[in-house]
Amino acid sequence: MKPKVYVTRKIAQEALDMIAQVAEMEVRPEELPPPYETLLEKVQNIDGLLSLLTDRIDANLMNAAPKLKVISNMAVGYDNINIPEATSHSIVVGYTPGVLTETTADFAFTLIMATARRVVEADAYTRKGLWKTWEPMVLLGQDIHHATLGLVGLGRIGMEIAKRARGFNMKVIYFDAQRRSTQEEKELGVEYVSELSALLSQSDFVSLHVPLLPQTRHLMGAKEFALMKPTAILINTSRGPVVDQKALYEALKARQILAAAIDVTETEPISPDDPLLTLGNIIIAPHIASASVVTRTRMATIAATNLIAGLQGQIPPHCVNPEVIKAKY
Ligand code: DGY
Repeated sequence: MKPKVYVTRKIAQEALDMIAQVAEMEVRPEELPPPYETLLEKVQNIDGLLSLLTDRIDANLMNAAPKLKVISNMAVGYDNINIPEATSHSIVVGYTPGVLTETTADFAFTLIMATARRVVEADAYTRKGLWKTWEPMVLLGQDIHHATLGLVGLGRIGMEIAKRARGFNMKVIYFDAQRRSTQEEKELGVEYVSELSALLSQSDFVSLHVPLLPQTRHLMGAKEFALMKPTAILINTSRGPVVDQKALYEALKARQILAAAIDVTETEPISPDDPLLTLGNIIIAPHIASASVVTRTRMATIAATNLIAGLQGQIPPHCVNPEVIKAKY
C-alpha cells in the first residue's frame, strides 16, 4: 500500500508528479492555507506532510498524527514547526536551503535600490499626472554607490548581498554572532563589527539576515532605531517578528530613520488597517523574496525529494533533524 501524503497548497506540478509516483496524495486546492482545525483533521491518517511557512505545526498537531514520519517544509526557514517536538515524535523534518539564496539576495538588493531611489513613489507620481517637466528638486533619493551597507547576519544570503554590494562600490560591514574567518572576510570584502549598535550607527542601509529565534525576536526595536542615522534605510527580508513593527512605525513617522522596505511582517498578511500602510516612506512586499519561477519550482522539487526520502525511511537530503533517522540504526 502506498503511503499517504497531504500537501497543504498547490505547488509546482513537477513536484506533485514526483510525489504521485510514490504516494497517495491529497493537495489542498484552495488559495488560502488550511485552517489549523483542517490541518489537525488531515494529519490523522497521513505518513507525510508537505507544508509551507504559513502552516503552524505544533506539538498538538503531531500528537494527532500517529503515523506521521516526515514533514517537508517548502522553505529555508522552519520557525513554523516545533522541531524539538518533531524530533521527540521521531518525525524527520526537511527544508529547502541554498536554492533560494541568490534569488532572495537579488530581491533584498532590489529593495535597497527601490527605496533609495524612490522607485515606487516615482511610478505613482507619473501615473497621477504630476510629471510636468524635468524637476531639479523632486524625488531626490539616496546614493547607493559608496554608501555603507550593514548586514545583520552574514549567512548564505548575507554573503550573496555582500557580493552584489561590491559591484556598487559600497562599504560592507557586518555583525553576526559567529564571525567569519579573516580569509572569508577578505574574499567578500566585508568588515566585522563586534556590536550591533556600532553597525547601526555607521550604516546607510541596514539589511537583516537572521533566522527567527527567541534571541532575534524584536532585535530591531525603538532603542535600535534611535541608533540609526536619520538618513538610513532599513531592509527586512528575513522574518517579520525580527522587527518590532510598532517601533518601526514610530521611527518612520518621526523621521528618525529615512525609510524602510520590508518583505515580511509580524503577522502575515499585514492587517489592512496597520498604521505602517499609512506611511509614504516604506515599501511593503507580500513575502516574495524567493518568488522567481525557477526558484519556486526548485524549492517545490527539493521539498518533494525530502518528503520522498523521509517516507522511505531515509535522511532527507536537506534535513533539520537527521538524528531521528540516525537513531534508528
Ligand atoms: C523561506 O523559504 O523561508 C522564505 O522566507 C520563503 O521566501
